[in-house]
Amino acid sequence: MADAVSWKIGEGVMVVTIDNPPVNALDHAVRQGLLAALEAARPPEVRAIVITGAGPVFSIGEEITKAATADQVPSLGEVLDRIETCGKQVVAALNGQALGGGLELALACHTRIALAEARIGFPEVKLGLLPGAGGTQRTPRLCGAAEALKLMLDGAPIDAVTAMAMGLLDGVVEEDLLDRAVILAGMLIGEGKPPRPTRDRREGFRDPQTYAAAIAAARAVERDDRLPAPERIIACVEAAILLPFEAGIAYERAAAEDLQTSDAAAGLRHAALAEARAARIPEAGATPRPVGHAGVIGGGLMGAGIAVALLGAGLRVTLVEADEAALARGLSRIDDLHERAVARGKLSEESREGEWARLAGATAIEALRAADIAIEAVPEDEALKAGVFRDLDRVLRPGAILATNTSYLDVDDLARVTSRPADVVGLHFFSPVQAMPLIEVVVGAQTAPDVVATGFELARQLRKFAVRAGVCDGFIGNRILTAYRSAADFMLEDGATPAAIDRVMRDFGFPLGPYQVADMAGLDISWARRQRLAESRDPAARYVAIGDRLCEAGRFGRKTGAGYYRYGEGSRMGAEDPAVIRIIEAERAAKGIVARSFGYDEIRDRCLYAMVNEGAKILSEGIALRPSDIDLVMLMGNGYPRLRGGPMKTADVIGLLPIRNKLRDWATQEPFWTPAPLLDEMIKEGRHFDDMNAD
Ligand code: NAI
Repeated sequence: MADAVSWKIGEGVMVVTIDNPPVNALDHAVRQGLLAALEAARPPEVRAIVITGAGPVFSIGEEITKAATADQVPSLGEVLDRIETCGKQVVAALNGQALGGGLELALACHTRIALAEARIGFPEVKLGLLPGAGGTQRTPRLCGAAEALKLMLDGAPIDAVTAMAMGLLDGVVEEDLLDRAVILAGMLIGEGKPPRPTRDRREGFRDPQTYAAAIAAARAVERDDRLPAPERIIACVEAAILLPFEAGIAYERAAAEDLQTSDAAAGLRHAALAEARAARIPEAGATPRPVGHAGVIGGGLMGAGIAVALLGAGLRVTLVEADEAALARGLSRIDDLHERAVARGKLSEESREGEWARLAGATAIEALRAADIAIEAVPEDEALKAGVFRDLDRVLRPGAILATNTSYLDVDDLARVTSRPADVVGLHFFSPVQAMPLIEVVVGAQTAPDVVATGFELARQLRKFAVRAGVCDGFIGNRILTAYRSAADFMLEDGATPAAIDRVMRDFGFPLGPYQVADMAGLDISWARRQRLAESRDPAARYVAIGDRLCEAGRFGRKTGAGYYRYGEGSRMGAEDPAVIRIIEAERAAKGIVARSFGYDEIRDRCLYAMVNEGAKILSEGIALRPSDIDLVMLMGNGYPRLRGGPMKTADVIGLLPIRNKLRDWATQEPFWTPAPLLDEMIKEGRHFDDMNAD
């Protein structure tokens, strides 16, 4: 294996190359290699050093999917200190992305030039961390507080030209980066000036008042106070101007260590690892089928959103609707979504025209004869969907994929009405499609591996995450939501109020509580579903009819101005409504329930443990491949707070034993709470859910 760091000396300039594929991570071997290179550069004939990366990336710092080596000596901070103070001119040649520790390395060099396509950034905040190898101290010295804070608090990378305008880069070139860097190093040698360490630069401190104002402005922004990183980043950037460099570095190190061990960082890291892991599916080796032309059947809320997503990924789309009037409505929905994207600067007029040109509308399914995939998004009615699938089976070319966006229906039942069940798959999008970054790829008993792989590849093209789910009522996301809602409904009937439950779950970190979500989605849809399922319902299971009573009173949620809350003109959150309390009391009275009070912790625990218990059942049934897939669905599809990592991560943090014991306790009153056998097994074996995530 080639050395992770290699060097070559020519005409007084040593070129040091980091070659640690795929992303030139600054792991232990690379850090040692950089020190060895500095050692080799000691002789006087080496008069300047150029540091660059092999391949398309400069360096992204440490890779989170690999075992952390950050606390092994030499630390990155020490290596960067040695580079900055080595006494010779050091030029960073950014051949591609320089993120996190990679950018800190570049900032410790004395001069930086980059290829135009290179991007730089500090993504640490997204993991609940901060740039801990001098980044918070060196960056503001070059570009001031406002720009440095933006880079570190947003976590989004910026392009090379922007970085140059900010003062973080000294040059941007279109090509021949390394030759230019060597020429630049030669010029610097020729000038004969000693290198200027970034620690001694003061351009960013030129106007202390502006600097202080930027700090104050950043502090004034309202943030989730359970995320400690932003506040610590701001404090470090403030320290940069107040303290000598070494003291600032010590301050940064202490903050970095605190964050490293914070709960938020653990949750965010878990979420990031879950994202990386979800693509590991049994079908990963299969070659996706080519998809250039997609049919969408049904241009309602979901179909229009799906069509827009497909168009945005460059596909040709044919929208099939029931009749001309519905088609016109569907096309106008797509037009509206485009309009909004243009207004938000997310779509150019030119791209919009291009997308519109790739869109066709039809009222006959025959228009899909040449399609590579058809995704149906007609209303949630089994007979209707089965009819659509029969039509698709008749019309689609051999090898085309038949996909359903159903929320709950059995994908295998739909597959059975066709002559090609291997080509049938569920692609469950979340609403609103343009905002939700997730697709559950629902794999039926006979779905072919390359069809599953195509679902994942399509998700990638749509810039969404895909999670593999098995067939069951509600797959992963809706099934857990149903359990969560049951827990909440039982408390509602037993004495809690919608506002109390919603407040607790918002405090936990959900953007909305379960009843606010229900009002937003519309109560009529789930009412219709309950009516449909009424006959097959287990008569022994507890049934809370409060939602039905609200619908009978014409309260369908926000769109009708009333649901679990009352909504004034333009009000999103809704106000508590005595009429709802009366409906709840009447239901209690009818069932002979005496209201009791629910404490804050009990409300939270019942909601969370219901999710965990359902998650355990989903795992033992093989519906989800691993606990972190459940976490990802809840984070990306259902508003579970990312800093908590997902319900299965929460369970590991709380401990499975106390959760199981509480469930047992509650189950004596209500069979709903009976602990999943998997919980008992895991407790016996002393295992955590995260152990099941191991690869
Ligand atoms: P919707 O009622 O907004 O749209 C359904 C569309 O299908 C209507 O435009 C209707 O004209 C059209 N349609 C009806 N029969 C048709 C036929 N035979 N051929 C062609 N088009 C026909 O419904 P929505 O909300 O878009 O839901 C569609 C599907 O997506 C359902 O299966 C639903 O469970 C699922 N889904 C819904 C989500 C939501 O939040 N609304 C989220 C995820 C999935």
